[in-house]
Formats: sequence, structure tokens, C-alpha cells
Amino acid sequence: MPATTLHQPESVPHSRLPAHVQPLECPAPWGRAVELAFLMWEKKSLAPTERFLRDFGLQIVSCTERKLVARGCGAAPAIYVAQQGSDNRFVGAAFVMSDDTDLAQYQRELGGRALQASDIPGGGRGVEILDPAGRKLWLLQGQARVAPLPTRDPAHTLPNNPYATVRVNQPLRTPVEPARVIRLGHFVLQTVDFMAMAQWYIRVLGLIPTDVQYLADGSPNLAFCRLNRGDTPADHHTVVFVGAIEEKYEHSAFEVLDIDALGQGQQVLRAQGHRHMWGLGRHVLGSQLFDYWYDPEGFEIEHYADGDVFTADVETCYSPLTFGSIWAWGQDAPASMKPSKSPRNLLRVFQLIRAGRLKPQRLKLLGEALDPPARPWL
Ligand SMILES: [Fe+2]
Repeated sequence: MPATTLHQPESVPHSRLPAHVQPLECPAPWGRAVELAFLMWEKKSLAPTERFLRDFGLQIVSCTERKLVARGCGAAPAIYVAQQGSDNRFVGAAFVMSDDTDLAQYQRELGGRALQASDIPGGGRGVEILDPAGRKLWLLQGQARVAPLPTRDPAHTLPNNPYATVRVNQPLRTPVEPARVIRLGHFVLQTVDFMAMAQWYIRVLGLIPTDVQYLADGSPNLAFCRLNRGDTPADHHTVVFVGAIEEKYEHSAFEVLDIDALGQGQQVLRAQGHRHMWGLGRHVLGSQLFDYWYDPEGFEIEHYADGDVFTADVETCYSPLTFGSIWAWGQDAPASMKPSKSPRNLLRVFQLIRAGRLKPQRLKLLGEALDPPARPWL
């Protein structure tokens, strides 16, 4: 086994960026997103999603044949909203914007549509805009909060380690129950024009790139972006962009209490016959403990705990893109985490190259970064 496969890629701050690495330039923001409020979905039938979400640990607020609203145990009135429709698809995301963000600017300059308070879980006001791939983005202000729901105490408040035994005469017994989701954490988008998509979101939401990964030619191809919450710590990433060969929802992630919630929740989801994808493991960039699942229509959805948080003043770090840098330990990452080589995608690549939207050289570099097995011993 070559020892080189066991090292982790070096990460350098923006201020010490090597000359061959191109920085991800951040355009001036129009406003500032302070919370990822909820994700919006269209499903042909809502009943399988309702059943899955209950087992996944969300609380159903309301469910009719036309609309499903679910929340976590936190103070957000909704974190998952699905409408019944003719397709199964990720529709987009809603963000809470800072009070000093001028929503009228988005209406003026991006042709945004004012939202009705009755259409927003928790009410308030908002604007709907479309991202460059046609996904909906709802920018909200004045949404009401709800009373948090009770959870058990986190198990890791009582850790025993070789140097400190804080749990004495007290066994650790966590219940076999769905991993109660506390809040919505992040979502990941694959995109053909990485730079344009990342910069569009950075400008619209005021995102801060926490970690950027680049190809062998030094061009950025992946950005983990956090919200600008000033001195209040924000998740390592709330929106992630990955340069790929299609415009695609990759996955979304929901925070649970601790590693025992992940493990016990996995037992419940397995027992209920849901399709497991990947985990448990720990990520490198963001450090989350993770467990990935497929929802009833095959969309990837993640449970996580114990992620990194950063204040707004921490500078962006850069590292080379490798498949192995997705995770620190755990089972081998599934191939679905990288662009698939299905006949449909090969045709798509051919069309993108012919249309001048994808350069063969970039495709080659992407393959060199992601194709080699990251952990040959798995
Ligand atoms: Fe994730």
C-alpha cells in the first residue's frame, strides 16, 4: 500500500496562496443571508416522502394531498416544504436575509416576484428569484419563530476519556429512535459553470467561501461557502458548489444531536426499509460526522453532527481537489458523489463540449482529480 495515499491534502490560507492557484474572486454582496430557512421540493406523491421524513427524524407540521410542511426540533417553523406536482425534483431553497438587506433591489435587478405572507411558513415577507439554472430562491424577512421541541441531552456532554472520567456509576443508554433533526444545515449543487454559479450565489446571498478546492491547473472547482453572521459562528458550509457536467442537486444535510443519534437513527431507517447510501464517517472539510440516505425518489439526504463553525473574519483556505478529501474516515465514498459516466452523461458531455460550455481539458483535469480510488484498501 503506497504510504502517500494516507496523507491529507495541504490547505493554505488565501494570504499565502501559491502563484499557480487562481483565487475565487468574491463580488460585492447585495445583501446577507443569515439562515438557510427551508428547502422546496416537488413530488408526484407526498405520502412516501411523509413516511420517510418521519423515520428520518423530522416533525410533520401539516400534510395534505397538495402540500407537506416539516420542521425540526429547533425554532424554525419549517425546514422542508414539498408540493404535489407532475415531477420529482428539487425546486430550490429559502433563506432568511438580514433586516438591513434591501429586498426591493432583487425585485428590480433580477425580476423578482414578491411573495404572499400566506405562502411563507411562519409568514413575513419575501421575494422569489431564480438562480442561473432556474432553481427558485426565496429571500425572506420577518418570519415568525416557533417554540423548540424537547430532545434528550447530548450524549457527548458526558464523555469518558483516558484522562478524565466524568461519567461514573452512570451507564450511557441512548434510545433507539429516529435521529431527531434539530435544524437544516446545507445543500450541495453540481454545476457546469462553477465560477459563474458560485459568484452569482456569493453576490446574492453574501456568502463567504470557507474552503475552495482547485484542479491541477490551479482553477477553483469546488467551494464550501458559509453565511456571513459577523461574530456569530456560522456552519463551515451552508451552500456548496461543485464543478461537474450537469446542473444537479447533489445532497442536502440536516443536523442531529450527536453521534449516538446518527447511529440509532441509522438502525431505525434500516429497520423501516429505507435505502442507505454512506456512513457513518467523518468529513474532512467541515469535520461533520455523517450518515447519508436516499429518499423515496432517490435524492441524497444527510444526517450530520459535530460540524465546524467559523466567524466571518476567518480567511478562505485553498486545497487541491481529490476524491479522498471528501472524508477523513469511514466506508468508501459511493461513486454517486462524483459525475457519473452513464450513456446519458456521456451524451451530455458531448453536447456541452460542442456548445463550448465545457472544455475537454477541464473534463480531463476533473477526471484526474476524482477518478483515482481514494482509499484503495476499502
Ligand atoms: Fe453534506
